[in-house]
Amino acid sequence: MSDIIQKNLDYKKYVIDSRLKYFKPHATQIEKTFADEISSSMNRDSKFISPKFFYDKKGSDLFEKICTAPEYYPTRTEISILEKLQHELPSFLDGDFRLVELGSGSSVKTRLLLDALSPQNNMEYFPIDISEILAESSEQLLRDYENLSITGIIDTYEGGLEFLKTYDEQKNLIIFLGSSYGNFSPLDGYKFLEKVHSTMKPGDLFLIGLDLIKEKKILESAYNDSQKITAKFNLNVLSRINDELDADFNLNNFSHHAIYNEKDQRIEMYLKSLREQSVVISKSNLQLVLNKDELIHTEHSHKYRLSEIHDLLDDVGFELKHTWLDEKKHFSLSLVSKI
Ligand code: AVJ
Repeated sequence: MSDIIQKNLDYKKYVIDSRLKYFKPHATQIEKTFADEISSSMNRDSKFISPKFFYDKKGSDLFEKICTAPEYYPTRTEISILEKLQHELPSFLDGDFRLVELGSGSSVKTRLLLDALSPQNNMEYFPIDISEILAESSEQLLRDYENLSITGIIDTYEGGLEFLKTYDEQKNLIIFLGSSYGNFSPLDGYKFLEKVHSTMKPGDLFLIGLDLIKEKKILESAYNDSQKITAKFNLNVLSRINDELDADFNLNNFSHHAIYNEKDQRIEMYLKSLREQSVVISKSNLQLVLNKDELIHTEHSHKYRLSEIHDLLDDVGFELKHTWLDEKKHFSLSLVSKI
């Protein structure tokens, strides 16, 4: 018990009303992490900005727009699978489950799962997200679901999972959709899944959405949409660094670059420096010189074979309950329990 109190002390609790509350680490902690991470990931030969920094308000809005771009198949494909899964999920649930969501899923997906749980008397939804955007969608959900209460955790996945671990005895259905897992390197991904596994109690369930390997042309178009929303999304991280870390990136001096690396089974996204230039990032104590054509790596989005997904889940110690696919086998959703 003392653990719970201890852990919650690191968070500030915001009670909005009887059905809505948030936990958030103290602000200075978050800000320091951003400046520090940029300071180390940009102060080296192969420069890198972690994709988790894409999601300020503007970036989150741009991502929502990407999800509706005709070339970006993952969102609509996953939704079509969820529409089928929704009716089959109850047969895997024994008793009442709380819905825990890692990352800012579109609220369409959340709703499909809440509907699958909705015969329950009192539903609980625990979104875990580093972006405060979870506040907006939470309020709308509360309006539409009378018997729902929401506890938002504004933190990293790791922080949120640690928080959940000591929270209470309620059974959890943890969902991680959209192939967000694809951002991890294989090693970090494995560690993340171990973290999920160790957070789960016997009886808890975990549902993970993963993008599958397909034709290169389809993959590359999805990350180079004709409306150039993905390009804006990628470049926006530089605006965020300008605003929050007192930097002077000139966005006109960079271009969006996304390619599929077949050997490593991943989309690689970069910001390309269009000329030799120098940039100051004050709060990270950095003065950079970028060469013409130098690439700043911003994202990896891994794609998987179904057999790899099953082997990975098995290696971590999960028991596979079911995998759902769309007709074209473009995307997968796997439900597992803890052995
Ligand atoms: C949210 C990480 C799943 O990798 O497809 C979309 C992010 N980046 N377009 C993905 C993204 C460019 C997305 N994930």
